Amino acid sequence: MPATDDFTVTPYAVEGDIDYDRLLDQFGADTLTAEQKANFPGPGHPLVRRGVFYAGRDVDDFLEATTDGHTHSIVTGRGPSGPMHIGHIIPFYFAKYLQDQTGALVYIPLSDDEKYLLKDASLDEIHGYTRENILDILAVGFDPERTRIIVDTADADVVYPLAAAFAKEVTQSTVNATYGNPENVGLSFYPAVQAAHLLLPQLVEGRHRTLVPIAVDQDPHVRVCRDIAAKNRYDVHKPGALLSKFLPSLAGPGKMSSSADEPSIHLSDDREEVFNKIRTHAYSGGRTSLEAHREKGGKPAVDVSFQLLYYFFEESDAQVERLAREYRSGSLLSGELKERAAMRVADFLEAHQGRRESLGPVESELKQYRLTEAERQTARQRVGYSNTRVFGQVPTPTAR
Ligand code: TRP
Repeated sequence: MPATDDFTVTPYAVEGDIDYDRLLDQFGADTLTAEQKANFPGPGHPLVRRGVFYAGRDVDDFLEATTDGHTHSIVTGRGPSGPMHIGHIIPFYFAKYLQDQTGALVYIPLSDDEKYLLKDASLDEIHGYTRENILDILAVGFDPERTRIIVDTADADVVYPLAAAFAKEVTQSTVNATYGNPENVGLSFYPAVQAAHLLLPQLVEGRHRTLVPIAVDQDPHVRVCRDIAAKNRYDVHKPGALLSKFLPSLAGPGKMSSSADEPSIHLSDDREEVFNKIRTHAYSGGRTSLEAHREKGGKPAVDVSFQLLYYFFEESDAQVERLAREYRSGSLLSGELKERAAMRVADFLEAHQGRRESLGPVESELKQYRLTEAERQTARQRVGYSNTRVFGQVPTPTAR
């Protein structure tokens, strides 16, 4: 990374004031054009219209596949390192919108191995988060016919042979150049695991267009995977990407590595917690006194309550524009904006929690979303591994 940059963005470190456009130059991705934005299916989506998803790779090829009625898929995953907050669930609701509009297949990998390698937590602890996170993901309401959920350690019979095949295509120096020298050999290998996630839909369903909607820090994984796909050994398209900015933390935009004293809004927060967190902690773009605010107006661009509404929680473009106008003019007060954002977030969470509570135990709910035996076999065969039964069943103590 050039020495002039005062920010760092890799899958394992996000620091400083991020210049999102400069990042695209570094990464070599393209800003979404107005035409591309307009080509998103159905009524479009506020995340695209308002530039939260702001860049991509091969987005046109994916959109074409959706309109031509060809098989197409989305891969969006979760690193289960803790309870999910509102920023974490947004890509899943976006994937659900695409699935509803176009019948997209949605593959959802959970990289428990990655988070184990990265964090100071046991596999059992990570497993606990994995179960909780799966329930939140299921609450989004994906179509089981068209959705697969994969857990790296639990689906190792398919993930591992694929990852081994792809790891063979990536040199250590590529990994070091892309991620900075990883802390341990597990994290050096992990990019091959995420490549397996991103190519899995094509290995199961045959060559087709895949789109990966992710925060821009995950783009290195996509790049590594695209290089693997480009070698043409496995008859797959390079997966496309749709890259998003980060939802600001309550501490304010551009303050991603949120300090410990700024809480996040969790998916499990009740109305009171949401209102308290936003009232107490949401950074305000308003003036310090009522008179100054009425006279000079507030700054929506740095106001976290406004950003929450703008990013996701206010559906109507007209309303968002009206709020920005009134805030800038000083007629809308910071406190009023906070109440509105809190209301919208609380309503959203109440609906989400309602759907989550109506689910049964995670084992039985997950069943219909897991890869079938036939799908596992197909994927393994595509990397040249078909004889997985060659050693037969594991012996029980009596059989031995
Ligand atoms: N690495 C991602 C994270 O840390 C999680 C993830 C795993 C993912 N596989 C994925 C995201 C595939 C998108 C697509 O959050």
